[in-house]
Amino acid sequence: MESFDIAVIGAGAAGMMCAAVAGQRGARVVLIDHAPRLAEKIRISGGGRCNFTNLQAGPANYLSANPHFCRSALARYTPRDFLALLKTHRISWHEKHRGQLFCDHSSESIIEMLKAECDAGRIAWRRPVDVQGVRRGEDGAFSIDTNAGEIRARALVIATGGLSIPKIGATDFAYRIAKQFGHKLVDMRPALVPLTFSSEQWAPFSTLAGVSLEVEVSAGPKRAQGSFVEDLLFTHRGLSGPGILQVSSYWQSGESIAIDLLPGRDAAAELLEAKASGVKRQIGNLLAQWLPARLAQAWLQAHDVSAEARLSDLSDKTLRRLGEAFSRWTLTPSGTEGYRKAEVTKGGVDTKELSSSSMMSARVPGLYFIGEAVDVTGWLGGYNFQWAWASGVAAGEAA
Ligand code: FDA
Repeated sequence: MESFDIAVIGAGAAGMMCAAVAGQRGARVVLIDHAPRLAEKIRISGGGRCNFTNLQAGPANYLSANPHFCRSALARYTPRDFLALLKTHRISWHEKHRGQLFCDHSSESIIEMLKAECDAGRIAWRRPVDVQGVRRGEDGAFSIDTNAGEIRARALVIATGGLSIPKIGATDFAYRIAKQFGHKLVDMRPALVPLTFSSEQWAPFSTLAGVSLEVEVSAGPKRAQGSFVEDLLFTHRGLSGPGILQVSSYWQSGESIAIDLLPGRDAAAELLEAKASGVKRQIGNLLAQWLPARLAQAWLQAHDVSAEARLSDLSDKTLRRLGEAFSRWTLTPSGTEGYRKAEVTKGGVDTKELSSSSMMSARVPGLYFIGEAVDVTGWLGGYNFQWAWASGVAAGEAA
């Protein structure tokens, strides 16, 4: 049997950060993971360049049953702190879009950096190692049964992430441990995920796969919260692209989403104006100036208007109906592409019984939950990694 001060289960973003911080404080730390490859989610993130943080990260960019829970950890470990760490490892980066920061070269450099930080903290690595169970003794210490023997530790940090992408090692381990120790879970579901539609509903648009455009899209009970101006991408089964991934976190099964295909434009007024000024163009040609041509065609077909019709041939009522439909495209997804394609899991370990400053359980002293396993879900754009770093540091400093 081996003994440590702290055992961290899950060597992903949050777990490595936590282990490195705790180890560098002088604690004897063991880091356990079952996956054959280290930190696969970091590797595949951001198209291989890891969108490792967002300069604008703040509590408003996170969904949680308790929206204030993330505040303390995010305030104490900020995007600037992570950038300072990158600087010491000479990792270059660039801002892509709205505060989203990516590695100039490869996400591998983030994994190498975290590994080096763990090594600087003299972390004992145990991977790939399967964890069979966890017990807490009368002395308050934890026993972790693994296929490589028993490990004991006075503190246990659960950093095994969420359910998305099971084929690279995601499991429900964190939720099982939470339940075992009496913690409640907030319902889990795939988030940052493409939305799908029934084949009947999608028939008019299925030929548009690959078409992309900037839209304003909103979902959720308070549309103002879940409203984003971002790109939308048509797929064979439905809709994807950053705008759709963002609203998927707010969307509830059975509800509709609303899309403005021409944000910032009063299409009805402009169509009527063009007709009144005597423009002799075909409606299809005119719309193709505003929208991808294939979408303009499909849209006219779906509204029973010929693309060859001249503006002067169409009634004001038809033009108004067409124009208004662009800004109020309301549709009800039949589902999502599920955990197979979801970037994150919404919900998770209820924050009610966790300390927001240390991530420690209020029920079981010495037990910590960090990262995606916790009911804190970030927007698309580097926010989820920032939560992983911040919650990892919080537990690493406290455990
Ligand atoms: P993470 O999933 O990173 O790590 C969990 C670890 O626990 C894994 O190493 C796993 O093997 C291990 N584990 C699981 N079950 C176990 C068990 N039973 N026993 C032992 N070990 C176990 N976010 C972002 O901010 N910017 C981005 O660019 C992207 N891009 C992106 C792309 C794709 C395709 C996905 C799927 C996700 C993203 N994300 C993202 C989300 C981001 O990857 C995610 O939120 C963090 O990795 C979560 O960090 P954690 O450490 O909590 O879990």
